[in-house]
Amino acid sequence: MSYGDYRDKKHLWEMAAKAEVEKVGWVKRMINSTRSLQDMKRREKLLKFLTIKIHQNVKEDHPFLPAPPKSLVTPGSYDLARVVTGRGAEYPARIRKVDATEHGIIVGPSGAGKTYSLTWLGQQIHRKALRADGKRNIAVWFFDTEGQITAYMAGTKSCEDVLLIDVPRDFRFNRYKAPPGVDEKEHITKLTSQERECKYYRDYTMNMVRNACFELLNRQGIFNERQVLDHIAVKKFKPGSRDSMSQESILNRLRESLEYMGSVYDTHRSHDLAALAKRSVVWMLQGLSTDHINTFIGDLILWIKEYMPVCYVPTLKLIFIMDEFTHICDIGRCKRADIQEPYMLDAARVYRKRGVSLMLGTQSIYTVPNVVLSNLSGFWIAHRPSEGYSMRILSDHLALNSEQVEYVAEMLKRYVVCRTKECPRAFLGKIPEIDLPAATDMEMATRVEHTQRVLDSLLEPEPQSDQLSLFDQKPTDEQAETLFGYYHLTKTCLDYLEFLAKEAHLFLPVTELDKLDSISNYKADKLRQQLIDTGPGLIKIHRITGGKMGRPSSTVEITDAGYHLLAKLGIKCEPPTGHGDTEHKFWQYTICRWPIAQGFPAKIEQWRNGKAVDVGVEWDERKVAVEIALGKLDKELENFVSDLEAGWDKIIFAVLTDEKLKKLKNKIIEKFGRKSLEEEKVAFMRLKTFLETKDGHI
Ligand SMILES: Nc1ncnc2c1ncn2[C@@H]1O[C@H](COP(=O)(O)OP(=O)(O)O)[C@@H](O)[C@H]1O
Ligand SMILES: [Mg+2]
Repeated sequence: MSYGDYRDKKHLWEMAAKAEVEKVGWVKRMINSTRSLQDMKRREKLLKFLTIKIHQNVKEDHPFLPAPPKSLVTPGSYDLARVVTGRGAEYPARIRKVDATEHGIIVGPSGAGKTYSLTWLGQQIHRKALRADGKRNIAVWFFDTEGQITAYMAGTKSCEDVLLIDVPRDFRFNRYKAPPGVDEKEHITKLTSQERECKYYRDYTMNMVRNACFELLNRQGIFNERQVLDHIAVKKFKPGSRDSMSQESILNRLRESLEYMGSVYDTHRSHDLAALAKRSVVWMLQGLSTDHINTFIGDLILWIKEYMPVCYVPTLKLIFIMDEFTHICDIGRCKRADIQEPYMLDAARVYRKRGVSLMLGTQSIYTVPNVVLSNLSGFWIAHRPSEGYSMRILSDHLALNSEQVEYVAEMLKRYVVCRTKECPRAFLGKIPEIDLPAATDMEMATRVEHTQRVLDSLLEPEPQSDQLSLFDQKPTDEQAETLFGYYHLTKTCLDYLEFLAKEAHLFLPVTELDKLDSISNYKADKLRQQLIDTGPGLIKIHRITGGKMGRPSSTVEITDAGYHLLAKLGIKCEPPTGHGDTEHKFWQYTICRWPIAQGFPAKIEQWRNGKAVDVGVEWDERKVAVEIALGKLDKELENFVSDLEAGWDKIIFAVLTDEKLKKLKNKIIEKFGRKSLEEEKVAFMRLKTFLETKDGHI
C-alpha cells in the first residue's frame, strides 16, 4: 500500500467507515502502512490524520477506561455487569465470594437502576447459597423502605423461601436483651451509645438512659422498652433542672418510639434472631420514619455484630442489602450532629471479619463520610452522576483523570463505571437486561402467610412462671395493664412490703422500722426505692416535722396500689385507721403507741357517746383523750367542750410548737377560767415528746 492509495479522500473516508466495524485491525494496518512511506513529511501528515481519525473512532468506545482482561474480572460467583470492550466480544464482570465480604456500593441518581441491580445481586447470592442438602449457607437480608424489593422478591419463583417480614406488624424484638453469650451490661452500654445517633440524645441524656437500664437490669433482669419509659417517668427531678430536661426529652422519644414501633419493642419475647440470621429476609420498613428505621436497623446491626463470631479467614455468611442506605442509616444527620463515628462505619469496619457483607445503594454519595467509603473495597458500581459533588467523589475514589471524568459525565443509561477487589482500575460496564416481575396480590398473600408460619415457630417461649407467680394464671390483658411492672418484684421486696403492712409497723418512723427489720438500713432503703418505683408506686415516703427543735422523721405509707397488690397476693392486712392526712395519721399512730408502751390500753379514733377522739386511753375509771391540734384554735376549743360532754375526764392537746401551745392555753384560760387547768381537765404537750420519750405519764 502506498500513499498514493490514500490521495483519494473519498477512499480514505470509506476506509474510516469500515473502521467502525473493525477499528483495531484497521488502525494497526494503517500504522504499518505508514512505515513504508519514504517521504517523512507526508508520513507525518498521514500519522496526524490517523491520530485524529483513531481518536474519533475509538472515543465512541472507551479509550479512557480500558477494558480489563477477561481472566481478571470474570472468575467469581456473582455477576455485577458486563465489561464493555468496544471490540464486540463482551464478558461478565464478577465478584468472588471471598471478596464479597469487603462490602460494595452502587451509586447513581434516581431511576438509574440501583434497586434493580441490588435485588438482582441479592437474588443471585441467595440462589447460589443453596447446598446439596437443601440448606443455604449464606443468608441475604434486604432492607426495603419503598416496597419495591418486597414486590420483586415475592414475584420471583426461585426466592420462594425468602421471608417477607412486615416489621412493625409481625416482628418482636426486645432490644435490651443481649445476644446469647454477651454480657448484658456491655450490651446496654453499646445500645445506649448508639441511641445518641439514632435518637439524637446528648451525652448527659444518654447516661440517664443507661443508668435507668442498669437499675432495671439489677432489679429484674429482663425488661423492655415500656419499662424503661415507666422507670424514667417516675423519677422526680427539680423542675427546670438539667435532669428534668433530659428526662423530658427521653420520655418524648421513648413515647414516640412506643407509639409507632410499640408492637416491635413492647415485648419480653423476641423472635429468634440467631435463626433469622441463617435465613434470607426482606425487612419491610415502609411507612416508618427515618428515626424509627434508623433505630431498628441500628439495633439489628449491633445485635449481629455482637452475635457473629469473628473468623480469621472471612467466610461469607450474611449479606445486608441496603438500598438508599444514606436514608436508612440517616448518615446526613451524623454529619450535622458532628458524629465522627457513625455506627455504619463501625459496621463497615468490623463486619468483614464476621463474614457479614454490606451491599449498599445510594443517590447521595456526597453525604457518606470518606472513612465509610474507603471501607467499601469489594466493588463499586457507578452510574452517570447527575451533579458535580458526586462526580468529584467518584473521580477521587475511582481514581479517574479529567478526561475520564468528562467521559463518565456523558455515559449512557445502564452504562456504569466499575471497580472490583480483583480489578481496582476502573473499567466500563453495562448492566444487562434484568427481568424482575412484581408479585401479584395472590403471590404476595401466599408469601406473607408462609412468613407468618415461620415467625410463629421462631418466637421465644412464654416467660417462665416465676415472673408471673403472683397470679394463678396468666393475667388478662386488662390485669396486665393495671398491674404492669409488678411481676418482677423480687421475693425480698414483696416480703418487705408485707412487713410494712403489719399493724405494728404502720406509720413508724423509718429509723424505727429499720431497727425492727433484720436487714441493713442501706438495703431497706433500696427495697423502699424499688417499691416506690414499681408501677404507679406501691408505697410513699413522707417527711414529718416535729415542730421547732423536733427532729423530722420519715414515714412510709402504703398506697392503694400497694394494698391492691397485697390483696392479690392473699396477704391479709388492715389499711390504717385514723383520719385526716398522712401527717395527722402519723401522729395518731405515734401517740397511740406511747401509752401502750407503758401498759395502758389506747385506741385510735376511740368512740364515746357519739364522739370520736384522735386517741383515747381508758383504764380503771380514767378516760383520757388526746387531740392533735394541727388546725384552728376555735376548732380545738369546740373539741374540748364536746369531748368533756361526751364523758372524757381529761383532754390532752398535742401541738407542734411552743407558740401554739401558749396560744391554746391562754384561749382556754380565757374561756373556761383557770379552774379547768387546776382540776386537771386539760393538759398540753409538744408532739415531738411522743417521738422522743417512751416513758412519760398521763
Ligand atoms: N437492568 C435493568 N433491566 C431492565 N430494566 C431496568 C434495569 N435497570 C433499571 N430498569 C428499569 O428502570 C426502572 C428504575 O430502576 P430502579 O432500580 O428502580 O432505579 P433506582 O433504584 O436507581 O431509582 C425500573 O423500574 C426498571 O423498569
Ligand atoms: Mg431505588
